[in-house]
Amino acid sequence: MKKNDILASAKINFNELSNEIKAEISVLGGLDIFTDAHVQGVVDITTKICTEMKMPYEMLKRCVLCAYLHDVGKVFIPSEILQKNEKLTQEEYEVMKTHTTLGYDLCMNYPEFKDLAPIVRAHHESFDGSGYPDGLKGNDIPYEASLIKVADVYDALSRKRQYKDKMSNSDTIAIMLQEVENNRMCAKFLYYLIIYLLDETSSKLAEQVHIVDEYEKELETLHELENIYKEIYDSGYTNKLQRKLNRYQLQPGYDMSTNAQLLISKQKVYEEESKTYKFLLSEEEKLQNQLKQGKKLAQKEKWYN
Ligand SMILES: [Fe+2]
Repeated sequence: MKKNDILASAKINFNELSNEIKAEISVLGGLDIFTDAHVQGVVDITTKICTEMKMPYEMLKRCVLCAYLHDVGKVFIPSEILQKNEKLTQEEYEVMKTHTTLGYDLCMNYPEFKDLAPIVRAHHESFDGSGYPDGLKGNDIPYEASLIKVADVYDALSRKRQYKDKMSNSDTIAIMLQEVENNRMCAKFLYYLIIYLLDETSSKLAEQVHIVDEYEKELETLHELENIYKEIYDSGYTNKLQRKLNRYQLQPGYDMSTNAQLLISKQKVYEEESKTYKFLLSEEEKLQNQLKQGKKLAQKEKWYN
């Protein structure tokens, strides 16, 4: 095993990584790129993909650094274009597109970022040559740029905005698989993103099963108590009914109406939690199918072999 492979299989200390990168980027001084939610989202997804790929530490660090820098050119784009909530006009879009070359120029000014500049420049290129700013094709696009593109598109599509709701993972991945089919995006990086999302969904689902189970048990107890209170209501307190109640270790003052109120509120929460459970179950199933599709596409992909 090579040294790098050992590092990759060892646990990566993400705090350390983040500090190292922040220190490197601090040379950019006043350019505040750490607070932007989209940049953070791209950094996060890039890290997840690299980790799933068991990338050697130095390579992972390089990709995460690129994720931080990818949109750095946007600091030169007028805020009325950057923050516009409606669709950009053709003219505005052309200005927006220059963030790639502006980012490149900026990185070229710093010796420590010079070799990352072409990656920053290429993060909107497509394998079929339809991207910008240079219309690069296939393997002429640096692989780090293709990786950032996958993370960038995922974050942009799935993120909740003022004017749109959050898109589900499976809906986001469906669009991205279509981009791969159209030869505009890298299947291999998308495949690892799906592995991560499926894994995350399965963990959430396992937690949700537990939550729903707990609510079912609570509701069952509340229904048992409801029946006892009904009996008391019909035939009055008897020693037998009191003994039944005693089994539940109820708080002082707990009575029929407390129980009825609790039943209504717990039932509501239970229904919400069940909805989440069903959603996660269907997400898991969809992502499992998308993983198969992504794997096939990745296997026949001719880039970066
Ligand atoms: Fe960008």
